[in-house]
Amino acid sequence: LFSAVEMAPRDPILGLTEAFNADPRPNKVNLGVGVYYNEEGRIPLLRAVADVEKSRLEIQAPRGYLPVDGIAAYSTVVQKLLFGQNSSLLEEGRVVTAQSLGGTGALKVGADFLKRLLPDATVAISDPSWENHRALFQSAGYPVKNYRYYDASSHDVDRTGMLADLNELPPRSIVVLHACCHNPTGVDLAPEDWKKIIDVLKARDHVPFVDIAYQGFGDGIEEDALAVRLFAESGMSFVISSSFSKSFSLYGERVGAISLVTQNRDESARVLSQIKRVIRTNYSNPPIHGASIVSSVLNSSELRAIWEVELAEMRQRIHRIRLEMVRQLAAKGVQQDFSFVSRQRGMFSFSGLNIDQVDQLRNDYGVYIVGTGRICAAALNTRNLDYVTDAIVQVLGR
Ligand code: LMR
Repeated sequence: LFSAVEMAPRDPILGLTEAFNADPRPNKVNLGVGVYYNEEGRIPLLRAVADVEKSRLEIQAPRGYLPVDGIAAYSTVVQKLLFGQNSSLLEEGRVVTAQSLGGTGALKVGADFLKRLLPDATVAISDPSWENHRALFQSAGYPVKNYRYYDASSHDVDRTGMLADLNELPPRSIVVLHACCHNPTGVDLAPEDWKKIIDVLKARDHVPFVDIAYQGFGDGIEEDALAVRLFAESGMSFVISSSFSKSFSLYGERVGAISLVTQNRDESARVLSQIKRVIRTNYSNPPIHGASIVSSVLNSSELRAIWEVELAEMRQRIHRIRLEMVRQLAAKGVQQDFSFVSRQRGMFSFSGLNIDQVDQLRNDYGVYIVGTGRICAAALNTRNLDYVTDAIVQVLGR
């Protein structure tokens, strides 16, 4: 049966972690996967999370099945974070949300649902995009194209190219957009860019699929939701995949959500019924633990305040380490201007290192970064930074 099965390539991101784990060098550094490590090089267990876990343990709650679409109180807090506390869309019943297995699970449920609705559509992702976007939409049966996004010479968005490409896509294409903290570049769109993009999407009747996996890691919880809020104001129907992996440091608990903005309450009921079918035939219903933690934290003003401080600390630490990286590279004599790193947002820094330099970093120094040159700045700290910048200096040849 399995004799003809070919070896699949390693995942470009998670495969790096496998290689990193197998590397015996004590000074190795994993800057591949998008995970926040604290100053001590550990994945933090947030205090707000630990508090809820303690009380949950004391209750010794039974573990029955959740509803197919997950915990209702969780969906409510997800919606409020995305659309704002007093969103009229929520009052009008125009948003449906289902708990998902992380942001990836939301993307997959959304892709499978859309495939039934728009079987002949094209999906467009940014160039570059998170490695899994292409694979995921292809595995749902869609052809996937790129739209221009990153301009390597200016380390900024190629605004003209992006708008032109969105205009040229076949009408009613599915356009995947990163709401904030663009993965892998760390280069985000400005408010006026979003307005122009929304105009094009509307004019071309495209379907926005907004991926927001880093809310709170850019400029703040509310600030990072700007794109979602602008789409909400636009009157369009759209899809959102969101995740608490990063913002609650709950990676392995797989806590995400798919939200769909419809035109009215009646449409919402029908859409949710179909989303539930997709979930039921994939994994039946979601797990309890992570989503109950998130809903408990966000439903308690005291715990929410603690979480907001912890999230701000993570965001600010990444920003400080970016500044320090830029300073060290300049101090170590690198000719190239790396100041763009301090302007990037979120966990990632698109370094501009080429594949040979990436390989050298890994082979000669045990510094693992993604093949595109993406560095997870959130895994740098004052202990490993000196070693990493030394290695970068060496591979750049100054
Ligand atoms: C990443 O981009 O590294 C993260 O989103 C983790 C993942 O699943 O790839």
